[in-house]
Amino acid sequence: MAEAKQGSESHGTESQGTESQGSESHGTASQGTASQGTASQGSESHQAVRKHFLAEIATAPDLATLESLRVAALGTSGEITALLRGLRDLPRESRKEAGQALNSLKGEVEAALAEAKARLGAVANQAALQAERLDPTLPVDGLEVGHMHPTYRVMEEIISIFGGLGFEFVEGPDIDSTWNCFTALNIPAWHPARQEMDTFYIGTKETEEAEATKQQAKSENKTGDKTEDKTGNKADNKAQPKEVPDTERLVLRTHTSTAQVRTMLAAPPPYRVMTAGRAYRSDSDATHTPMFHQLEALVIDRDIHMGHLRGTIEMFLREFFEIDDLPVRFRASHFPFTEPSAEVDIGCRRTAERLEVGRFEDGEWLEILGSGMTHPAVLQNCGVDPDKWQGFAWGIGLERLAMLKYGAPDLRSFMEGDLDWLRRYGFVPLARASQIWGE
Ligand code: DAH
Repeated sequence: MAEAKQGSESHGTESQGTESQGSESHGTASQGTASQGTASQGSESHQAVRKHFLAEIATAPDLATLESLRVAALGTSGEITALLRGLRDLPRESRKEAGQALNSLKGEVEAALAEAKARLGAVANQAALQAERLDPTLPVDGLEVGHMHPTYRVMEEIISIFGGLGFEFVEGPDIDSTWNCFTALNIPAWHPARQEMDTFYIGTKETEEAEATKQQAKSENKTGDKTEDKTGNKADNKAQPKEVPDTERLVLRTHTSTAQVRTMLAAPPPYRVMTAGRAYRSDSDATHTPMFHQLEALVIDRDIHMGHLRGTIEMFLREFFEIDDLPVRFRASHFPFTEPSAEVDIGCRRTAERLEVGRFEDGEWLEILGSGMTHPAVLQNCGVDPDKWQGFAWGIGLERLAMLKYGAPDLRSFMEGDLDWLRRYGFVPLARASQIWGE
């Protein structure tokens, strides 16, 4: 319509379409037939191009087809682009008119493209939404819940039991002084537990130097040299190296009994405390690992006697294993920090597959923990008057308990960090200790 109108305007005639444009081109004197032909053909091809693209755009099935139509019409080598480019070759008089006609064709095609794009875009969106639809009722895939290590599960169970008896939980460091670990606990300097073989000593510059002096003095003595002895000591062959005080020499604690010392030094009695954590010994085979876990308890009050020790430990073991008639035996033993000392055994049965805890006809005894009445020397070392205060202490290995209660077979696997093992023997973290919450 636009072209017809423009045609009639430019000629002042009523004629329309190709005819009028034809007459227009004849009216030009200077231009050759080629451009006359172009102008004329241009107009026809406008119609054809318009018809072709509008029809194709209207029926384009998808955005990709639409895009190739846009390129075919308006891209650098597109048909409409070519027509616009051809304007240059037209005689100046007709260039403006043809230009307007082409621009309006271009605008029409662009509008059609935009409309189709919006329409097809909405369809594509709809299809994508349909395809990507989420079903929130499906089970969650691949959400992994971590597991609590059986050692820590057992630790929590025992803390729950003693928490219920009014014990307070105290903490202590893994690295402690030899005084806290040995001396205060009445473990004399010659005791085998102090030897390098069993204990990890933590060297500082000073301790290393002192150790070197000591070793040197030792070897000099072996070769017969005598150390000067101004004190008149008879020990001719004994080295007198400068020692690092016991309170400064550091070790990885070999047991959690250090907590007894720290508790007594921190505040006056009475005490009813427990602690749990890592302990270290230079030991490694099928039943020993260099790091393991212990739980320790200390009760100091007036008039505490061995009956309290027996009652407390019996109650605890029966509660922990959930066996009311679990046989519990106290066997005389020796620990430097208790007097008297008792090792505690529980009833068990060994079958081909496992070691079972409980009361059995053909049962055996299984050693489970160390205990005793706190040695007066320990109380004294820690500033507690043994004439006024007495009590008991006991310590237990946690891996062993986890193995017995939950059937995990190999001690070493407790330390290996194998996730499959943890999934099998671990616990859902927020599950409560069974004794308290009746799980
Ligand atoms: N500390 C001992 C150990 O590691 C265990 C122990 C025995 C702790 C007797 C105590 C106790 O408190 O009274 O083998």
